Amino acid sequence: MNQPEGSVGVFDSGVGGISVLGELLRCLPNERFIYYGDSANAPYGSKTVDEVRELSLKIADYLIIQRGVKALVVACNTATSAAVKLLRREFSIPIIGMEPALKPAVAMARGGKVVVMATPMTIKEQKFQDLLFRYGKEAQVFSLPCPGLVELIEAGETEGERINSYLKGLFGSFQLGEVDVVVLGCTHYVFIKESVAAFFQGRAAVIDGNRGTANQVIRVLEEKGLLSRGKNRPLAERVELVTSGTAEDLELWHRFLLKVS
Ligand code: DGL
Repeated sequence: MNQPEGSVGVFDSGVGGISVLGELLRCLPNERFIYYGDSANAPYGSKTVDEVRELSLKIADYLIIQRGVKALVVACNTATSAAVKLLRREFSIPIIGMEPALKPAVAMARGGKVVVMATPMTIKEQKFQDLLFRYGKEAQVFSLPCPGLVELIEAGETEGERINSYLKGLFGSFQLGEVDVVVLGCTHYVFIKESVAAFFQGRAAVIDGNRGTANQVIRVLEEKGLLSRGKNRPLAERVELVTSGTAEDLELWHRFLLKVS
C-alpha cells in the first residue's frame, strides 16, 4: 500500500468524476486509476451532509483499505465540501479534493459578472461560502444551485431540448452578453460545457476546475514521492471502473470517458 506503483483512487457520486478522470489520464500518463462511481446513491447534492459523509467514508474505506490505493481524488465538489476534512482525519494517504474554480473566474472577469453553477449542497456549505468571502469581492458573483441537473446528466443527457430548457430556466434573469464567466462547479456539468457555451452564444467563458485538480494531484504525488515510474500503458490497462449502480451506468461511463480522453 502507498507505493509509487500503486493505483490512484478516484470517486464521485456517479458519472461526473469521469470528466476528472479524463484529465488525470491525460496529465499523468504513467499512472493507473481505480474509479468508483456511486450511481446507486446519486445525486449527492440534494442529500443531507451526514448522508454524504457516510457514503464518502464507505467509498474511501473500499478504495484505501480494501484496494490499497496510494492516493485518493474526491472528484466531486459536493463530497469534498461535506466530507474531505473527515476523510483526511480518518485516513493517512494523500487526499485531494475539488472546489468551484472561482479564483480563475474572477481573474478572467475583471470586475464583470461570474455565474457559479453547483449543487445545492456545494453552494450552502461553508467551504464555498469561505471561497466566496475570499474572492467574491473581485467580481459580481452569482451562485446558482442547480437541483435536478445531475439527474439529467446521469440519464445520459448532455444536449438537446431538456438541457436547453433547464438552462433557460436557470439563466432566465440574465441578458445575453451580460455574463462574462460561467463556472461549472460540479464535475457532472463538464459534460454539458458545450450546451452552456452555446446558450450564451459563445459570449461567456465557461470554465471548470478539472485541470487545476489534475495539477494538484501531480504536485502532491511528486511531493510524497508517489509518482509512478511505470511505462506508458494502453488505456484499458490504466483504468478500472467500479460502480454501485448497473451495467447501463458502466456503459454510459465508457461512452463519456471516450469523449473526454
Ligand atoms: N459531481 C458532483 C459534484 O461535483 C455531485 C453530483 C451530485 O449531486 O451527485 O458536485
